[in-house]
Amino acid sequence: MQLIRTAADLAALPRGDRRVVVMTMGALHEGHLALIRRAKDLGDQVVVTIFVNPLQFDEAADYERYPRTLDADLALLEPLGVDAVFAPSDDEMYPHGEPVVTVSAGVIGRVLEGAARPGHFDGVLTVVAKLLHLTAPDVAVFGAKDAQQVIAVKALVRDLNFPVEIATAATVRDDDGLARSSRNVFLSPDERSRALALSRALASADHAARSGASLAATLRAGRDVLDAHDGIDLDYFAALNPADASEANDDYRGEVVLAVAARVGETRLIDNVTTRIGEPGAEGDQR
Ligand code: PAF
Repeated sequence: MQLIRTAADLAALPRGDRRVVVMTMGALHEGHLALIRRAKDLGDQVVVTIFVNPLQFDEAADYERYPRTLDADLALLEPLGVDAVFAPSDDEMYPHGEPVVTVSAGVIGRVLEGAARPGHFDGVLTVVAKLLHLTAPDVAVFGAKDAQQVIAVKALVRDLNFPVEIATAATVRDDDGLARSSRNVFLSPDERSRALALSRALASADHAARSGASLAATLRAGRDVLDAHDGIDLDYFAALNPADASEANDDYRGEVVLAVAARVGETRLIDNVTTRIGEPGAEGDQR
């Protein structure tokens, strides 16, 4: 496994037949490893990027405290058969300081996660665009856990004609349902147990949807679970149209992403499940 620090060295990396990239901000956990296993299935050369992107943090303190664990990350990646890790410095990625020209996520960047974290998706798409240029992959794999990010990246690739296929990998969960996230390390044992309300709310809403509930009843089933739990500072529990991240209205039918975001203590967590409205018995994500 080659550790690459500069864009010039990355450009000199010989290509495999089908290069697959997995972009990360490090602090790798089982969720990232699942992305890498999926990448291994999709191509013959896997490049992982590790870069904590300052542009996508709306709070400086959040950026500062983001875990940086390069040695541990490399130790996790080596046995997976990753071919190269691109871990540039801030100066290598942004040699002229904050970029003058950036990518706008448009309306996708202004709703739900985007409303809670102004500028976040513009920052994500700007670095994703740069990393797509630098790594030049045939396929890029993103985690379904960041549902709105996946929608935004697909729109970037479609609208700006990036010659890359976007693949997704399912959310990895602990046995009790908590979605794996780099932020889980910030949860105290008590907060971690309170955080289970998020996946339970999604499971309840998913069950309601698969039993034929309307969108309003589906959302109510999830919100009832959240209301019954203390210590959850709910930001949203919403249904999104997977095509454009717009909020689904009451008469919505078809595939929908149920998404939740809440602060548990100081830590903001997100989770989602894809299900179908108006088609009783349809298979949703199981947990
Ligand atoms: O999902 C992430 O870890 C980040 O948003 C990404 C895609 C690596 C861009 O910094």
